[in-house]
Amino acid sequence: MIKKLATVAIWCLGCVGAVCVSLSVKDTMRSLATKKGLETGVAVAVGDLSKDTHKNIILENSSIIVAENCMKWQYIHPRENTWNWKDTDRLVEFAEENGISVKFHTLFWHNQNSPFLSERWSRDKALSVMDNHISTVMERYKGRIKEYDVVNEAFEDNGSLRNTIWLKTVGEDYIEHAFTKAHECDPSAKLFLNDYSNETMGQTKADAMFNFVKKLKEKGVPIDGVGFQLHIDTAYGFDAEKIRKNVKRYEEIGVLVSFSEVDVRIPQRNYENHLAKQQKIYCELLKIAVEEPNVINFITWGFTDSQSWVPYTFPGKGHALPYDENLQPKPLYAEMLKVLK
Ligand code: G3I
Repeated sequence: MIKKLATVAIWCLGCVGAVCVSLSVKDTMRSLATKKGLETGVAVAVGDLSKDTHKNIILENSSIIVAENCMKWQYIHPRENTWNWKDTDRLVEFAEENGISVKFHTLFWHNQNSPFLSERWSRDKALSVMDNHISTVMERYKGRIKEYDVVNEAFEDNGSLRNTIWLKTVGEDYIEHAFTKAHECDPSAKLFLNDYSNETMGQTKADAMFNFVKKLKEKGVPIDGVGFQLHIDTAYGFDAEKIRKNVKRYEEIGVLVSFSEVDVRIPQRNYENHLAKQQKIYCELLKIAVEEPNVINFITWGFTDSQSWVPYTFPGKGHALPYDENLQPKPLYAEMLKVLK
């Protein structure tokens, strides 16, 4: 709450200055959300930064951005002693030039890993590779990247820990080890455990993750927040009240929540029939993000249907983002602005 109030106060001071130089300022997702103390943003494909239309949409919507791919192991750390900083540097520089924060996605995941990682490593070897990855990234971007998805998708749907290379080599404490090391490298960075299908209170995975995070907090592990990816499909149940309850129970244990990868997919066929439901879901999620003090950001996974991961992964589904294939905002976008107003 204090964080949101402080942001509002800073915004108000900024406004006094802005009014002096401009009489009419366009309301954007970014400006309206900032007034409410909420960071909004999009996942960015680095190539978008070379296209003016894409760049303008990113600027209008984002006070925070996240890399869609370039910070994952296979790109940033492809071989044991090879680092590829080019795209991440570019994204961070773009953000700095435009007063935008950056979220790092992701230090550890089971996908898009590098071929040199081996499940046959000893615990000590795996821990030294983990530590080196964390410290090399975080020391480079210290003070410049303020949020990290430290571990992504660590849970199976049944609530057990996913059997990743890190679980196999290090063991169950790999998550607390990663958070502890990351905090040591940049104590000011906010550290998140990010996952999907973890937003609805009462569901197995959501409850397992909550209990896991609660234990980490009790042990003093430096975890700041959890990410709800929120890749929603209108065909399945959506219960805004249970999502809100889940957010609230995290607040009770002092844990922030990031709405970290929002998109709402609908059938491609007769998609017009599903737009109202999609709009309602976007607006209800945004309303929770605005109203609940521990939700610090609302990030969509991309912005245009022309570049969404959805149709490749869920054939027959699509139209998941606020901008259509021609980079035009959909009617739901205006409704989202109304929620912020
Ligand atoms: O870079 C290669 C390129 O060289 C090649 O020509 C091309 C041909 O297919 O593939 C390119 O790699 C693709 C990469 O995206 C970059 O575009 C991969 O095939 C493709 O699998 C990869 O998909 C990404 C996916 O993560 C991988 O699991 C999506 O773009 C990205 O949106 C998606 O993001 C994830 C989050 O990180 C975690 N949460 C779920 C979310 C959606 O799946």
